[in-house]
Amino acid sequence: MAASGTRNNKGSGGAAAVSVVAVVAALVATATVVAGQGGGGDDPGAGASCSRRPVVFAFGDSNTDTGGVAAGLGNYYPLPEGRAFFRRATGRLCDGRLVIDYLCESLNMSYLSPYLEALGSDFTGGANFAISGSSTLPRSVPFSLHVQVQQFIHFKQRSFELVAHGGTAPVDADGFRNALYLIDIGQNDLSAAFGSGAPYDDIIHQKIPAFISEIKEAIMTLYYNGAKNFWVHGTGPLGCLPQKLAAPRADDSDLDYSGCLKTLNNGAYEFNNQLCAACDELRSQLRGVTIVYTDVLLIKYDLIANHSTYGFDEPLMACCGYGGAPYNYNANVSCLAPGFRVCEDGAKFVSWDGVHYTDAANAFVAAKILSGDFSTPKLPFDYFCKA
Ligand SMILES: *[C@@H]1O[C@H](CO)[C@@H](O)[C@H](O)[C@H]1NC(C)=O
Ligand SMILES: *[C@@H]1O[C@H](CO)[C@@H](O)[C@H](O)[C@H]1NC(C)=O
Ligand SMILES: *[C@@H]1O[C@H](CO)[C@@H](O)[C@H](O)[C@H]1NC(C)=O
Repeated sequence: MAASGTRNNKGSGGAAAVSVVAVVAALVATATVVAGQGGGGDDPGAGASCSRRPVVFAFGDSNTDTGGVAAGLGNYYPLPEGRAFFRRATGRLCDGRLVIDYLCESLNMSYLSPYLEALGSDFTGGANFAISGSSTLPRSVPFSLHVQVQQFIHFKQRSFELVAHGGTAPVDADGFRNALYLIDIGQNDLSAAFGSGAPYDDIIHQKIPAFISEIKEAIMTLYYNGAKNFWVHGTGPLGCLPQKLAAPRADDSDLDYSGCLKTLNNGAYEFNNQLCAACDELRSQLRGVTIVYTDVLLIKYDLIANHSTYGFDEPLMACCGYGGAPYNYNANVSCLAPGFRVCEDGAKFVSWDGVHYTDAANAFVAAKILSGDFSTPKLPFDYFCKA
C-alpha cells in the first residue's frame, strides 16, 4: 500500500503505514501579504487586528505538525528539512513553514509549540496537538484525532488544577473560551482507504462517513468542553501528490488535464463535501458555535493547475526525493532516506517530498485561506480574537 517512506511510517506511531499528509504554499505577493500582517511592530494593534491575545489549539497530521512527532517518538528530521526558513531541524516535514505557521504569522503570534515538546515550549498562545501520520481512525491509537482531543482535555484540566492550587497556567479560562480550535485531518485516512484497495463506492459511502463522524465527534467534544470558535480545513487533492502519481498504473486514463489522478481527487472532493455538510449540521445543532470550513482542495488544485501564473515551475515533482522527472519520487528512496536528492530551489516546487508541500507552496495556500474566498461562512481568520 501507499506509504511515504520509512520516516512517515514511523510518524504513524504504530498505526497502519499511511502516507503522512501535509500542507502547502506561496508567491512573492502572497508572502508579502503574510509578512506584512506578521510584521507588526511594537504598537499593539498596528500589525494584528486582534483585540485580545490570540490563543490557538490545533489538531491534525503532518500538514500541521510543528514538531510533535519528533518530540513524541524521538524522530529526527535533519536538514534539508527546514532549510528554506528555519535552517535547522524543527520536526516539520517541510523545507520551511507549514500553513499553520503562516496563519500564526497573520495573527502576529508565535508559532505554536507542540504539546509534547518538553523543552522550550511556550503555551501562552495555545498548543499544537497535530502529529505527523495521524488519522481519524482507528480512534484510540496514538495519535488519532480522538487521542489529540483527549490530550487537549488533559491540558485544560491540568491548567485549571494548577491555578486552583495557587499556581499559574499559560492559558486561563477566558483564553480557553475564546480560543480558536483548528482541525485539519483526513488525508492519511483517505490515503489508507484508497491504498487498501477497497471499492470506490465503499470508500465514498462507508469509510468517508466514518472519518467525518470522527471529526464531528471531535468538534462536539471540544464544544462541550467550552470551545466555541472552530476553523476546519478540507483535505487536499490527494491525486496530485507525486507519491500517488509515482505508483505504477496500467495506463494514463485516470489522469486529468493537470496530470493528477481523477479517482483520488474525486475521493478528496467527496470527503470535503461530506465535511462541509457536517459543519453545516453542527452549526445548526450547537448553540453559539462558529465553525468556518475552508476548502483547501480548491486552493491547492488551483495552485497546481495554474502553477506558472503563481511562479512555480514544478507542480507534480518532488523537490526532495529520487528518480528525477516526472515525479522525482521513489518509495524506496524518499526524502532523507539513503541516496535521496534535493532540488536547488524549492520555491519553484509545489511538493517538497512527494507528500508535503514546500514552504513556498504553503505560503500560497495560507494566503488563499486568509483571503476568505474559500471559506464558509466568509469570516476573517482573526474573527475569534476580535472584541
Ligand atoms: C507583533 O510582533 C512584534 C514582534 O514580534 C511585537 O513586538 C508586537 O508587540 C506584536 N504586536 C501585536 C499587536 O501583537
Ligand atoms: C486557473 O486560473 C483561471 C484564471 O484565473 C481560473 O479561472 C481557473 O479556475 C483556475 N483553475 C483552477 C483549477 O482553479
Ligand atoms: C523498491 O524495492 C523493492 C525491493 O527491492 C523493489 O521490488 C521495487 O521495485 C522498488 N521500487 C521502486 C519504485 O524502485
